[in-house]
Amino acid sequence: MQQGIIAIINHKGGVGKTTTTLNLGKALSLCGKKTLIIDIDPQANLSQSIGIEEPEMHIYQAMLENRALPISKLDKNFDIIPADLDLSEAEVKLQNDVNGYFKLRNAIKSIKEQYDFVLIDCPPSLGILTTNALIAATHILIVVQSEYLAVKGLQTILRLVESVRENLNPDLEVAGMLITQLNKTVFRQNIAETLRGIYQGKVFQSIVRQNISLAEASSVGQDIFTYNNKSAGAEDYMSLAKEILS
Ligand SMILES: Nc1ncnc2c1ncn2[C@@H]1O[C@H](COP(=O)(O)OP(=O)(O)OP(=O)(O)O)[C@@H](O)[C@H]1O
Ligand SMILES: [Mg+2]
Repeated sequence: MQQGIIAIINHKGGVGKTTTTLNLGKALSLCGKKTLIIDIDPQANLSQSIGIEEPEMHIYQAMLENRALPISKLDKNFDIIPADLDLSEAEVKLQNDVNGYFKLRNAIKSIKEQYDFVLIDCPPSLGILTTNALIAATHILIVVQSEYLAVKGLQTILRLVESVRENLNPDLEVAGMLITQLNKTVFRQNIAETLRGIYQGKVFQSIVRQNISLAEASSVGQDIFTYNNKSAGAEDYMSLAKEILS
């Protein structure tokens, strides 16, 4: 694909959604694609991982108060719309609004043509914020940690995607499943193979290995390419970007 709006999802926490949004986004921008990353997680980890704490304006005001989108430039070809902890209140307001599921789609309508890629970092739940992302998106990317229980939760995600596709967003496609935090133990390798067996063509060839530089980079507010261009993490996310573009 050469363009798209990709929701990065998994209701399981800590699998690598935020790390993937930031570093895949940066990799796509380095490949010359104009890329916007959007934080819709009330934990605001994506915003924090790039050094934005308590932004004055965030996605919530644009979704619920029709305010202008607060886009910040991070680098050449690379922009962000941050979140803030206020977003936790947004869930309640969205649920009480008849158009609550469509707020993100409407909010980004006027700017999406300016970007090749928009990546949306979802919270670890399949609630109304994630559904907003699925309705705004053209594609989903499911981040899967290579462990047994992670594989079991995938059916739940795929059922939600199917229901959104049938009722609300017929064009939604699964871009693929990304295995992250792979280490060298035989057990985890087996999980990767099992997943390929079940979902075949839907699992990306690129795998993100466990790599301490990825955790270190976000703790100092940087993407992996700025922090350590030579790391396994940088190599893996660049490989994923090239696979998506090919
Ligand atoms: N490939 C990796 N190797 C090592 N550490 C990683 C890797 N990917 C992510 N991490 C670390 O694991 C933790 C969880 O990652 P991340 O925040 O991206 O997950 P998440 O799915 O967004 O979590 P949440 O569900 O809470 O939003 C972070 O500390 C991150 O730095
Ligand atoms: Mg996250």
